[in-house]
Amino acid sequence: MTTNRVLTGYRPTGRLTLGHWFGNLLNMRELQERYDAYYFVADWHALTSDWQDTHAIRRFTEEMVLDWIAAGIDPERSTIYRQSDIPEVAELTLYLSMVTPMPWLERVPSYKEQREQITEKDLGNIGFFLYPLLQAADITIVKGDFVPVGEDQLPHLELTREVVRRFNNQYGELLPEPQAIIAKEGARVPGTDGRKMSKSYGNAIYLSETEEETAAKVRGMITDPARKLKTDPGDPDICPLHQIHKLVSADAGAIAEWDRCCRGAECGCVAHKKALIQDLNAYLRPFRERRAELAATPGYAWEVLADGAARVRPAVESLMAEVRSALHIDAG
Ligand code: TRP
Repeated sequence: MTTNRVLTGYRPTGRLTLGHWFGNLLNMRELQERYDAYYFVADWHALTSDWQDTHAIRRFTEEMVLDWIAAGIDPERSTIYRQSDIPEVAELTLYLSMVTPMPWLERVPSYKEQREQITEKDLGNIGFFLYPLLQAADITIVKGDFVPVGEDQLPHLELTREVVRRFNNQYGELLPEPQAIIAKEGARVPGTDGRKMSKSYGNAIYLSETEEETAAKVRGMITDPARKLKTDPGDPDICPLHQIHKLVSADAGAIAEWDRCCRGAECGCVAHKKALIQDLNAYLRPFRERRAELAATPGYAWEVLADGAARVRPAVESLMAEVRSALHIDAG
C-alpha cells in the first residue's frame, strides 16, 4: 500500500504566531499521522514579494523549521526541506511557463488583489507574476497528491491542475494532478486588537516570544469595547481575551465561570487578563522549552533541511530526467 503524499509550503516572512498554531500547525501535526507529509519552506516565494529586502529570509527559514519541530512536526516522519535546495523547481517552473497562457496568471484572484492592496512593495516584477506557477512546480515536482488549502489558495490549486493537464497533453502523462483538501477550518484567533491575528497588523502573539512579552501583550489587549467600567456587563463572545482563553484553557468550568461573571459584571477585565496570562503561558510552555532546546544546538535546523533535501532529491532527479527527455532537452 502506498501512502498518499500531502504537501504544503510556507513563506519564511516571520516567526509563527498563535494564529498559525490554531490555524495550521495543529492540522499539519495531524496530517503527518495519516499521510507521507512534505512540509517545505518556500523561500523563493518569499523572494517574489520581498525581493527588495531579502536579509531576513534565511533567519526566518531557520526560525520556521524550529517552530514546526517544537510544535510537534516530527522531522523523521515528515520530510522538511527548503524550496531553494531543489533548484530543479525553478527549471520545472520554466517548462510549465511554456504551456501557460498569460491570461491564466493574470486572472488569478490573489494576483489582482495583492497588486491593488499591497502598495508598500513593488510587485510589478515577473517573479511575483509567476508565483502560482512556482507553486505548481513545488507541488508536481514531488508528485504531491493532496494540498491542504484555505479558501484563498484554492485558485492556485485550480491553476496547477489546468497547467498540469495542458503540460501532460503536450508532452505525455508526466505530472500528477494534485487535489485540494480543504484544510479543516482552524480556529480563527483574534489578535490583541480584536482583528484577525496577523504579523502585518502588529497584533500578534508569537509562539517563541518570552513569557514576559506575552504578559505585556495580554495586559494591553482590548476586551469588549462597550465595557468601559467594571460595573458594566460585558459580552465574552466579542471579547478577544475570552476567545483566546477558550482556545488555550483545559478547564471548561473556569471558562464557563469567566463567561458568567463577565456577563453579570461580577469580575473585571484586569483579573481576567491575569488568568489568561497564566493559562496562555502554561499552554505554550512545553513548546517554548522544546524550542529553546532545539535552538541550543547550532545548525540544527540546517541539518534537518539538508536531510530533507537529500530525501526528496532522488525522486526529483528521476522525474526531471523524464521531463527533459520528453521535451528533448537532454543529451541526444
Ligand atoms: N502560496 C502559499 C502561501 O502563500 C505558499 C506555497 C508555496 C505553497 N508553494 C506551495 C502552499 C505549494 C502549498 C503548496 O502561503
